[in-house]
Amino acid sequence: MKQTLPSASGPIGVFDSGYGGLTILSKIREALPEYDYIYLGDNARTPYGTRSFEIVYEFTLQAVTKLFGMGCHLVILACNTASAKALRSIQMNDLPHLDPERRVLGVIRPTVECIGSITHSRHIGVLATSGTIKSESYPLEVHKLFPDIKVSSEACPLWVPLVENNEAQGEGTDYFIRKYIDELLAKDPLIDTVILGCTHYPLLLPKIQQYMPEGITIVSQGELVARSLKDYLHRHPEMDRKCTKGGRCVYRTTEAEDKFIESASTFLNEAVRVERIEL
Ligand code: DGL
Repeated sequence: MKQTLPSASGPIGVFDSGYGGLTILSKIREALPEYDYIYLGDNARTPYGTRSFEIVYEFTLQAVTKLFGMGCHLVILACNTASAKALRSIQMNDLPHLDPERRVLGVIRPTVECIGSITHSRHIGVLATSGTIKSESYPLEVHKLFPDIKVSSEACPLWVPLVENNEAQGEGTDYFIRKYIDELLAKDPLIDTVILGCTHYPLLLPKIQQYMPEGITIVSQGELVARSLKDYLHRHPEMDRKCTKGGRCVYRTTEAEDKFIESASTFLNEAVRVERIEL
């Protein structure tokens, strides 16, 4: 049955499987502080990175539909796994039925667009969840724009659980940070640029920097996505008009509220108010 969506203008929706999208949200808010935002974390079902295409698509579509129902006309999938596995199907198959005027944007394309001007050796690495790596979205997108760049990839299946379990600064985390970095660099010693292709990974940045050899540029996505969104809103005044501007940000989670408040407040360095919802 077709859902009736609220037509009044509303906040920009930012979605992730858990806390990772907060790294994108904070950069977006720095670049575009005047807009209103709803952040939705599907913390009860995180991680998505090890799940099948069908499930990631199903969960992501539920989240997008929910955010549309909450008044969003524009939703950012602040999650590489969802961008890799669900974005295209949602854009092609679901938006025409849900509402052809609403938009869902991902994080992979804005990241890839910047790569050509960063790498000198034309050899890059991608660290991401198993799902994102298996989808081959990064090499596919990179080769569309820069066919000369060689892309090597390494899945880091333990990094998201370490973040979600508040172990980003934990001593045991070092072992797994070094392991995946070493495995990636062993695949191609000419790599001079490494994309952090998961929005959770900036929360591990101090340790990633510690174990990444000097001379390798680490690309994290927040600023790139924020810049691309700013550009998008500039080029699409009809969408810009549908986004309310009051500088507010509200948080929604599918997990218990107290868990979200504790972790999100640590990651954002500010107190957050959150409401639990069901998808
Ligand atoms: N933060 C998400 C990403 O960028 C998802 C991580 C997960 O749920 O596995 O891929």
